[in-house]
Amino acid sequence: MNLGNLTLSGRLIVAPLAGISDLPFRLMARRCGAALVCSEMVSAHGLVYDNRSTVALLKTDPEERPFSVQLFGASPEVMGRAAALLSDRPIDVLDINMGCPVKKVVSRGAGASLLRDLPLARAVIRAVVRNTQLPVTVKMRAGWSRDAVVAPELALMAQDEGVSGVVIHGRTARQFFSGSVDFEYITRVCESVSIPVIGNGDVTNLEQAAHMMQETGCQAVMIGRGALGRPWVFSQGRPALTPVERLSIIDDHLALMQEHLSVHEALVAARKHVGWYVRGMRGAAGFRKSLYEMKSTEEIRGQTSLFFSLEVPGPS
Ligand SMILES: Cc1cc2nc3c(=O)[nH]c(=O)nc-3n(C[C@H](O)[C@H](O)[C@H](O)COP(=O)(O)O)c2cc1C
Repeated sequence: MNLGNLTLSGRLIVAPLAGISDLPFRLMARRCGAALVCSEMVSAHGLVYDNRSTVALLKTDPEERPFSVQLFGASPEVMGRAAALLSDRPIDVLDINMGCPVKKVVSRGAGASLLRDLPLARAVIRAVVRNTQLPVTVKMRAGWSRDAVVAPELALMAQDEGVSGVVIHGRTARQFFSGSVDFEYITRVCESVSIPVIGNGDVTNLEQAAHMMQETGCQAVMIGRGALGRPWVFSQGRPALTPVERLSIIDDHLALMQEHLSVHEALVAARKHVGWYVRGMRGAAGFRKSLYEMKSTEEIRGQTSLFFSLEVPGPS
């Protein structure tokens, strides 16, 4: 599949997840087979005003490319300036957030709020496309509410403005994460445009991803929550992993945290991700609790190995 002049090696993409999609998480997704990795949403204002914590979100590594950076904002001028700034960096795709329903974002007119103002959405898209040579994508929800579904129209508008692909999460903003994804929303976007459509929502394995592509006609699938503690979801055609293989992935992930994050950031991330990795295992609840008493990422590495050794059949 192509996004503009960029050819992707597969059809599974890791979703942007605020507070989660840091460099180690993206590197793990990529190592496990994700065809494209995405930053969490990055404030265009923060970039233009050189906010340190915003710029820190752009930290990347050649191994994770192709790398998509997602911008959010409601001012065409600021979004255009942010796009121009990003174009000098080692980035492969610029994505525009038109789906986030969170109050902090929507109250500023950004994210899913743009679904309620298509002329402004068009101006934002135009400003970004005109200020970068990179392929641009737009990630959207179906509409603000069930009676205001605009994704097919917005996707067509994006295509007219020179966007290279769209991501559609098959829920409305009002729905947040309730109910289940409606394939009809994705199908209608696919029927509306000729650029690639990436379907999104509730996919947790390869079969579901294939089903979404088959049923809706989307060319690729983006996976978010289904990749938490399960980055191997991107490994096409691999049989179920043994505990030893899973532990080896966790250990790689923890090593990447130690390499790329500050000591404190690594500890916070390690607690969170290991909590997800052990989900479903015997004793997981107790182990998850104990993670908060562990004082270093190194200790978490050791204790996680120990916890897994209880699952691993010993020599008979
Ligand atoms: C914790 C969390 C953070 C998210 N952050 C972002 C974000 O920064 N940008 C964005 O476009 N979507 C964000 N999303 C939405 C996801 O990218 C995705 O569209 C949604 O979770 C549905 O896909 P899934 O069912 O595979 O998780 C977030 C979702 C969650 C649960």
